[in-house]
Amino acid sequence: MTKLRVGIIFGGISSEREVSLNSGRNVYDNIDRELYEPFAIFMDGAGYLWILPWQLISQNTTVDISERLEQEAKRIPYESLKETIDFAFLALHGKYGDDGCIQGVLELLGIPYTGPGILASALGMDKIIQQKILAAEGIGVPRSDEVTEYEWKTHREGVIKRLTEKFGFPLVTKPCREGSSVGVTIIRDAGSLGQGIAEALKWDNVALVEEFLDGVEFSSIILEADGHAFPLSLTEIYPQSEFYTYDDKYMPGRCRKFTPPKNLSKDVVEKIKKEAVRAFKALGFRCYGRIDGFVLKDGRVLITDPNSSSGMAPSSFFFEQAAEQGMLPSMIISRLIEVALKIHREKKGPL
Ligand SMILES: Nc1ncnc2c1ncn2[C@@H]1O[C@H](COP(=O)(O)OP(=O)(O)OP(=O)(O)O)[C@@H](O)[C@H]1O
Ligand SMILES: [Mg+2]
Repeated sequence: MTKLRVGIIFGGISSEREVSLNSGRNVYDNIDRELYEPFAIFMDGAGYLWILPWQLISQNTTVDISERLEQEAKRIPYESLKETIDFAFLALHGKYGDDGCIQGVLELLGIPYTGPGILASALGMDKIIQQKILAAEGIGVPRSDEVTEYEWKTHREGVIKRLTEKFGFPLVTKPCREGSSVGVTIIRDAGSLGQGIAEALKWDNVALVEEFLDGVEFSSIILEADGHAFPLSLTEIYPQSEFYTYDDKYMPGRCRKFTPPKNLSKDVVEKIKKEAVRAFKALGFRCYGRIDGFVLKDGRVLITDPNSSSGMAPSSFFFEQAAEQGMLPSMIISRLIEVALKIHREKKGPL
């Protein structure tokens, strides 16, 4: 039997490239080699692809890998990708990785890949558009406002007044399109508002401003099977920092997470899962997704961050929730590939 050649693509251009390296090598280590022939494909900082020898995958950072590419890896032009792989397992995160860009390239090349198509990937990245869609579907989202770079440069005082009157403090500022909590700040007083907006605008030309949600944070992995969307187990999150920061997400031992939840009632867990599935469908996500949000003290479930892909490090929500459902990492990786192949076969266009 010839095995499906799976290119696991990781690294990339975005602020989340180091997170992606962890996802990629974990998928590479766990993919079922009885079924698939894996290739570790590294996207460098310029967007070029390289096939890595397995020894390089254990390097600590994308910089360490990048320094050794010329000598030890094989550059693979996009147009030749199909000669080496039959399928792309996308372990890229953030801009150019899960926002529709690489998806568009793979569509042109006719290579099936994990996750949804171009449109839903782009929606999964854009927090402003996704809130509008979710709200139109009657799904709870935080109250929010947006500040463009232009508006910030030209009407700073007016913006500060408007946001202060609308939300009071604390409030949250974040880039419209980022991940891993990059550029997110909790603002506690008017004096820090400018700093928060400036930080968000470092990463995007639109800053999203949200009411501060005081409640329990959750993350729900949704998996597609036979055309339906199913929630895996749910995770309840208790950050050690002021909020669920980059360090809380990725530093070992830093954050308490409970899968399944310890402190949420069965009814609340069911309600969250139901809302997460609704959000997944509303945004046209396919294959799998990760829907994050808060349950507030008054019982309301608000969706803050629907993602069309997920981190795939060993203790990620993805593998933690799969384990609770009895699935080994290799099993859920195979499931994603099979579902993605089916979606690709049934497609009538790139979206
Ligand atoms: N409205 C809010 N109220 C309170 N805390 C918030 C709010 N929005 C975001 N946060 C905190 O900031 C963190 C990062 O925000 P968000 O989930 O929107 O960003 P992200 O960068 O897309 O994250 P991810 O890596 O999960 O994709 C959240 O996990 C949460 O702890
Ligand atoms: Mg996100």
